[in-house]
Amino acid sequence: MSVNEITHPLIRHKLSIMRSADLSTRSFRQLAAEVGALLTYEATKDMELESYELEGWCGPIQAERIKGKKVTVVPILRAGIGMMDGVLQLIPSARISVVGLYRNEETLEPVPYFEKLCKDIDQRLALIVDPMLATGGSMIATIDMLKKAGCKHIKTLVLVAAPEGIAKVVEAHPDVEIFTAAIDDCLNEQGYILPGLGDAGDKIFGTR
Ligand code: PRP
Ligand code: URA
Repeated sequence: MSVNEITHPLIRHKLSIMRSADLSTRSFRQLAAEVGALLTYEATKDMELESYELEGWCGPIQAERIKGKKVTVVPILRAGIGMMDGVLQLIPSARISVVGLYRNEETLEPVPYFEKLCKDIDQRLALIVDPMLATGGSMIATIDMLKKAGCKHIKTLVLVAAPEGIAKVVEAHPDVEIFTAAIDDCLNEQGYILPGLGDAGDKIFGTR
């Protein structure tokens, strides 16, 4: 299953508040990070563990730790920055690989302007974070970049996804799992998700 709509009550509750038209920048930003953390918890459930010996208070014990090189979080600038802290709360040692893309407002095509990936990305799970999966163009371009750099294991975390965008990403990259807090109804003529959140970047950065 490459699309997971996470219906945890905390996520439903927090995302509903985010849909309010008059929410403050501070609250929107805080909730974006919180839902980002909850999605991270879901998306990392299948991480492999290994056992090791640890000196406990009563002597040596068998303990567990996550195996191998771990995670790089990949925020898509700008709005992805708003979810990044949520991922880092749960995985503080994650490397950060930044991708800069914006949507041309007329063509809706992604325009890349920045790429700085961690060196060992070929050995890490990449968790791409972006609040909005609308036409899917930005997500597909980001996955293309990561795969070109050798990344083999990619998951995406989004707050709201449109069915149109999900279909495009699944068609282009069937191996990439999508974790979303909601699958909404459709896109409007300007490529905005309905009911959606509005312009997530503007809301996170206070530039609306
Ligand atoms: C938004 C959003 C995604 C993209 C989704 O970014 O954060 O990156 O649009 O649209 P798509 O699925 O149709 O590609 P935007 O271009 O508004 O840039 P910003 O994050 O800098 O505000
Ligand atoms: N980008 C946003 O910020 N919101 C949308 O609904 C679509 C793209």
